[in-house]
Amino acid sequence: MAGSKEGLAYWGDKPVAVVTDPSWGDNGKGKVVDEAAQYVEMVARYNGGPNSGHTVKNERGKFVFHGVPSGILNPEVLCIISTGSVVNPISLGEEITELRKIGVEISASNLLISRDSHLIMPWHRMRDNLQETVRGGNKIGTTGQGIGPTYSDRALRTGFRVKDLLNPQFEEMFDKELLLQERLSRFIRGEPLISDLYIEELDGQNTQMIAEMVRLALQTKYYDHDAILEQIREAKDIIGPMVTYVLPVIWDYKDKGKKIVGEAGQGALLDLDSEAFPYVTSSHPTAAGFTMATGIQGKEIDAVIGVTKGYSTRVGKGPMPSELHDEIGEYIQTVGEEWGATTGRRRRVGWLDIPATRYGIKIGGIDTIALTKIDVLDELDKIGICVAYEVDGQRYNDMPSADPDFMSKAKPIVELLPGWRKKTSGIRAFEALPVETKQYVNRVQEYLGKPINIVSNGPEREAIIYS
Ligand code: IMP
Repeated sequence: MAGSKEGLAYWGDKPVAVVTDPSWGDNGKGKVVDEAAQYVEMVARYNGGPNSGHTVKNERGKFVFHGVPSGILNPEVLCIISTGSVVNPISLGEEITELRKIGVEISASNLLISRDSHLIMPWHRMRDNLQETVRGGNKIGTTGQGIGPTYSDRALRTGFRVKDLLNPQFEEMFDKELLLQERLSRFIRGEPLISDLYIEELDGQNTQMIAEMVRLALQTKYYDHDAILEQIREAKDIIGPMVTYVLPVIWDYKDKGKKIVGEAGQGALLDLDSEAFPYVTSSHPTAAGFTMATGIQGKEIDAVIGVTKGYSTRVGKGPMPSELHDEIGEYIQTVGEEWGATTGRRRRVGWLDIPATRYGIKIGGIDTIALTKIDVLDELDKIGICVAYEVDGQRYNDMPSADPDFMSKAKPIVELLPGWRKKTSGIRAFEALPVETKQYVNRVQEYLGKPINIVSNGPEREAIIYS
């Protein structure tokens, strides 16, 4: 097995580990999960869908995974897309095809997809974007991937599931749903409902003919029936063989003591049940989400690893108290290449936000930290930590709530530490880091109240220090 003895020691004694993020995502879970995949037998993505963008860089190149779990580069690891996730069959099929083209092995022997995950259909993406437009100045800043509308359908107990793709009646079901969605699209926009028009015009004529005319008319408006169906057929051929009941497989691995890593899609502060509503996603990246998606209970999880950077970032809307609007923020954004991996949006950057991260640690169930991208801070004279907030003249070391009304009033109280002004990339032992870097890491650890057991100092797989 590849990897290091430190890696083996770390992952080896955690039969079930969950890799999540205490804040707003984009902190390097992909890299940590790719590293873990050298030592474990299963990686299970447990929430979200193609809104995630997990970046992995190793000797084979740079990869950005959206739907495929980040363990896929080790063909011996069984990757699972579990029921808590939502699946866009078309984009997942394309992602798999692209990965195969560059030599990544993907088949039913290393990727299984839950039959019961909800399908993201083109109308979900349309509704997502429409909703954002309607919100005007109050946009959530979603990724536009149709996540909210798909999970809403799930909550409404409607919509398609992955297993429906395999149903011989699927195309009829699809036609009916598309017709409904087309009518809805027109209704929302105050346009005449096409079928009503035709029914009026063709009053008294053959109903089959009316249905056919409606179908033809539909092809030219909001949804291209034939093109979508063709894409879905292609996607079904690719993902169909991997669709199965995933829970018995997960439980079997667990019962046999094979090592499992759960991979979250986003971060705890984006959890639907966090108080940061409405600036959240529609699923559960917290460790509780792993439990809901796999049936593996909290008491059976050996470690919940919270991946966070040495500074904070956020994409999309919503308050970010430690945001930097100056040249330091711009510098970190540039050096850290802080662009959304899914949407290409510029990420907002701030000093590491301790109150927000501590809150995320609590609701995320996190017990150990992986601190990433410390090398991005290498050149700074001073490095800030947002240690508390001031709200209405009062100091808060911990925030009582992630309520945007509270967070948007919070002014950051920043402690400045000396920078190290030395290159940390290439260093492979904690002891060998510059003294100021160690001071910084230790201070963050003190504030977070959780051990920092992994420090990452570069995008490549080897740039990892177990401490
Ligand atoms: P949605 O998940 O597309 O509905 O977006 C809801 C919020 O979550 C927006 O602020 C997004 O920017 C944010 N979000 C969703 N997925 C990710 C992610 O993978 N990384 C960071 N932010 C995300």
